[in-house]
Amino acid sequence: MTDCLHPCPLRDQTSIPSIDQDRRRFLSASLAASVLAVLSACGDDGPLGGDDDEGTGGGGSPPTGRLTVVLANFPALAADGGIARVDGGSTTPVAVVRVNATTYRAFSMVCPHAGTTITITTGGFRCPNHGAVFNAAGVRTGGQVTSDLRELPVVYTSATQTLTIN
Ligand code: FES
Repeated sequence: MTDCLHPCPLRDQTSIPSIDQDRRRFLSASLAASVLAVLSACGDDGPLGGDDDEGTGGGGSPPTGRLTVVLANFPALAADGGIARVDGGSTTPVAVVRVNATTYRAFSMVCPHAGTTITITTGGFRCPNHGAVFNAAGVRTGGQVTSDLRELPVVYTSATQTLTIN
C-alpha cells in the first residue's frame, strides 16, 4: 500500500480531536469575553458618573469628586458678578459666579434642555444649541423653555483663597 501524498486532513486521525479541542477552547474564551463585555456595559456610568435623566439632558451630571479652584487663577472672579469656567475644560463643565468677596456660586454648564455645554455671557449664560438663556443665578430667563441650571455645592476657604466644589 502506498502512502497518499495529498495533504488530506483525515489522513492523520489524531489531529482531528486536537482541532475540536482548540475550537472548543476558542469558543469558550469568546463566550466568556462576550459575557464580560455585556456585564461591563450594564455596570456603572464611568468615571464622570451618570445622568439619571437620560433622554432629557437632565440638567447635566455634576462632577464626581472634588474640584479645587484657586481664585487667583481666574481674573474674571476678581470682581463681584464675575463669571468664569473653572474646570479647565477636562471634566464636566463648571462655572463659578462671584456674588461678593466671600460668596461664590457654582453651576453645571450642561444645558438642562438637551445637554449642550452652555457659554458664559455678560451677566449669565446662553446655550448655543436652542438658545436657552440663564442669568448669573442660574435661572432661565429666556429662549428655549427648560429648567434652571443645576447648582453645585461650593465652599470658600479664605485662608487659601480657594473654592472647593463637590
Ligand atoms: S440644548 Fe440648550 S437649549 Fe436646547
